[in-house]
Amino acid sequence: KTPENLQLVIFGGTGNLSRSKLFPSLYSLFRRGKLPENLTLLGLGRRYSNESEYLNALSRKAKNVLSNYSKEIWQEFSRDISYQRFDFRSQDCYRNLRKKLKKADDSSASLTSNLIFYLAAAPQHFGTITEFLAKYGLLKSEEESWPRVVFEKPFGYDLDSAVRYNNQVRNFVPEENIYRIDHYLGKQMIQNIFVIRFANALFEPVWNRNHIDNIQIISTEKSGVKKRGRYYDEAGAMRDMMQSHLLQMLAMVTMEPPVDMTPECIRREKIKIFKSLASPNPENIENELVLGQYVSGSIEEKSVQSYQDEPDIRKDSLTETFAALKLQIDSLRWQDVPFYLKTGKRLGEKRAEIIVEFEPSFHPALEKNLNPDNSNILRMTVQPKEGVSLQFNAKKPGKKHKTVPVNMDFCQNCKKNFNSPAAYEEIFTGLFRGDQSLFTHWQEIKHSWQFIDSVKKSAEQADIPIISYDAGTRGPIEADRLLEKDGRVWWDEV
Ligand code: BG6
Repeated sequence: KTPENLQLVIFGGTGNLSRSKLFPSLYSLFRRGKLPENLTLLGLGRRYSNESEYLNALSRKAKNVLSNYSKEIWQEFSRDISYQRFDFRSQDCYRNLRKKLKKADDSSASLTSNLIFYLAAAPQHFGTITEFLAKYGLLKSEEESWPRVVFEKPFGYDLDSAVRYNNQVRNFVPEENIYRIDHYLGKQMIQNIFVIRFANALFEPVWNRNHIDNIQIISTEKSGVKKRGRYYDEAGAMRDMMQSHLLQMLAMVTMEPPVDMTPECIRREKIKIFKSLASPNPENIENELVLGQYVSGSIEEKSVQSYQDEPDIRKDSLTETFAALKLQIDSLRWQDVPFYLKTGKRLGEKRAEIIVEFEPSFHPALEKNLNPDNSNILRMTVQPKEGVSLQFNAKKPGKKHKTVPVNMDFCQNCKKNFNSPAAYEEIFTGLFRGDQSLFTHWQEIKHSWQFIDSVKKSAEQADIPIISYDAGTRGPIEADRLLEKDGRVWWDEV
């Protein structure tokens, strides 16, 4: 249930994420009449010296990124936004923040009622911010009130740092008030995985190692590192995308059916998957992992520079901008089923999808198309299209025993006037409602870092090379070989 009085305070409110995603999503919710009434928004940051400069910057960006921008509606929406110049480390700022919130909270005696602190900040600041919020009395839980604290991704850079940051914040905030962001959980088709799996007689009974040959989870991008070079060069694709978005998609596709749809039950099943990820063997990692880094090339006929020439990137950087990984889940349902994950920047296409390839079932007397085209393939496309397609075999017209793969297609955002809510709109809606199933539990974070750390360690031990690939291509050819060795192909390009 969404409470009526809410104050949303955004740390890092002047940063790019806030301007390009958070405020535009809040605007879209407002436009659709989906923002809680009496919600006030407060942006905190250092970049702008006063509120009108801040509001101008927000609306300038919103105009660029929103197709449904209207000046009048924006003005109405932005009436409830205020700004405070803020330095995370300055206690004076927290004192002023308290005063400001108190003034806005005239309806109740309790200051902490229904406050949401959204930390769109780097994780090394999480501890300091929560500590000072607590010190200035802003995190007190009372009977009917729940100061929620939201932590943007990434939650840490590896297991050690994640544990450290988590211990720091848990001193001041209980797990039930913590909302760790993975915006992929707000994407429509990722939420749809549940329904596809658990509401269709066609799929549930075959969703296991007896019928599934392999599953591929792919998220590729055309964009480079944009202005986030400093962060990205420390992170790389394994930490930036694999640890979070790709493993979250994996968990949604492979988890056991939850007892019910409560966040506790859903997260309990997801955590089991994260715990069951098999650590790679350093002896074999060269057959399971391909890392790459882009060099200059062209995308949509525009030439783009090499990763190492991007701003804030070290000239001799060995950070991977591409990763393809084969992994296994140690569970009865998934024994011996390979999962192939792939992600990269500056590739030829922006696309995210989950592809399930079923075991073949084919009468020997029928004439095959060229392998591997005759597999049954279930494709759940997350973006840019939102849809599901199923490839199956039919008779080739006019040819008696010859088969041809055909597709049944469902596309939900291809319909005219269909406006799919953006991921962050769903995330905010979940946050206001208190639906933690759209956020990651500490145990998910902990075990996913444990797994990613083990892959990175094995890669180092085995000296896995960083292979150059031209921007605008499919990435290193070695990623195709990774599957060829297993007699398979990536289904994203077929
Ligand atoms: C973010 C990563 O979490 O996800 C970015 O830090 C990446 O590097 C982005 O570009 C991709 O999100 P989406 O929604 O565009 O697929």
